[in-house]
Amino acid sequence: MAIKYTPEPFRIKMVETIKMTTREEREQKIAAAHYNLFNLRGEDVYIDLLTDSGTNAMSQEQWAGVMRGDEAYAGASSYFKLVETAQEIFGYDYIQPVHQGRAAEKVLFPSFLHKGQFAISNMFFDTTRAHVELAGARAIDCVVEEAKDPSKRCKFKGNMDVVKLEQLIQEHGAENIGLVVMTITNNSAGGQPVSMQNMKDVSEICKKYGIPLDIDAARYAENAYFVKRDEETCKDMSIMEIIHKMFSYADMFTMSAKKDTIVNMGGLIGIKDQTKNADLIMKIKANCISFEGFITYGGLAGRDLEALAIGLREGLDESYLKYRIGQMEYLASLLDDAGIAYQSPVGGHGVFVDAKAMFPQIPYYEFPGQVLGVELYKEAGIRACDIGSYMLGNDPDTGKQLHADFEFTRLAVPRRVYTQAHFDIMADALIAIQKRAHEIKHGYKITWEPPILRHFQASLAPIEK
Ligand code: F0G
Repeated sequence: MAIKYTPEPFRIKMVETIKMTTREEREQKIAAAHYNLFNLRGEDVYIDLLTDSGTNAMSQEQWAGVMRGDEAYAGASSYFKLVETAQEIFGYDYIQPVHQGRAAEKVLFPSFLHKGQFAISNMFFDTTRAHVELAGARAIDCVVEEAKDPSKRCKFKGNMDVVKLEQLIQEHGAENIGLVVMTITNNSAGGQPVSMQNMKDVSEICKKYGIPLDIDAARYAENAYFVKRDEETCKDMSIMEIIHKMFSYADMFTMSAKKDTIVNMGGLIGIKDQTKNADLIMKIKANCISFEGFITYGGLAGRDLEALAIGLREGLDESYLKYRIGQMEYLASLLDDAGIAYQSPVGGHGVFVDAKAMFPQIPYYEFPGQVLGVELYKEAGIRACDIGSYMLGNDPDTGKQLHADFEFTRLAVPRRVYTQAHFDIMADALIAIQKRAHEIKHGYKITWEPPILRHFQASLAPIEK
């Protein structure tokens, strides 16, 4: 039985009209886009679930903050407001704003990773993996086995497999592991949370072998909500206390602030201990000035710093987080009723539909996740994205197509943007596609691809036999 939709803890003051298109128009537009959803124009999309990143609706407080933004090149008051807010939330000494998450990775990773080394994560997001590889190192995913079975409903499927982590460290030698990265929530595994206990265990292993531990903190607030909801020992803690404790286990964080801080642009680097890491902080500042801009703006406008400082706090509000996760739970329950498989229990920022289960006849190298993405667009003007073999790409050493553990189509939900009726449309579209799924015999082939992060730009064509 479908659960009730959690009501919005806000009302709407400004609206943005969205265009309705016909199926014929959409079929023509997706063909012209070479079946790559990133090539579509935003205006041709009805419900845009491509990403929850930078697509959020800001509050009246944030928009008021935009007007107050201090645009001084150096030492802007908005910078100090942001730094002080982040220091209070995370308990870290040094905070560096950057323009988005991958900028944080670009500025930080070369200090830890070089050729011949490895970085291990519960799961790397695609751009994070790319920055490990750009630094010359190799990225290894080490998520718990249960994450790989979308039908297995257990808590904290985003966790690191700690036994395997220790084996990997011993196999490659601790001196060759430049960094361990804990991604909270674990985006690629379905927005699945990481438990406090797992964070503590990973931290202990890292300390034992002298390996620095970085939190990829894009969805840290949603993770904290799951910890409070599902981890017995943390149920009486506030969201802020949970975050403080979680971050106390790591040495640093890299954050795409385009997610849980409910803004349209921004990123952060945090270093816990300023005195122990004076050299590292010097390198961060130097890289930031070279790549991003002066250290007190980091590639952002003063108005962005201001909105980010306000969003950091809004993203921690428990009634907001309850509504936010409630949206995913609502859609998931509609899919349960229809017998549509997804990464379950549902995670934090979207519903990851199991495209392999919907299209068992389509092999990984014909990209079932992409097939469902294209069908969703044709069916209802919904734009989602593949999180599977299409996204994973080719082995950087052999050039061969990699076989992903999952073939998901991710419906990533922008924050404070869509209403219950939109969610009903998402469910109806998936149900309609499920009914005719057996008629779709083949997937897609790639007709052109760039050498790195190919899914953003590649051209595809339907396979016809
Ligand atoms: N880390 C994680 C876990 C992410 O999900 C992302 C981005 C990044 C790092 C990079 O941040 O985009 O600000 O440079 N994820 C987006 C997504 C793009 O759609 O999941 P960025």
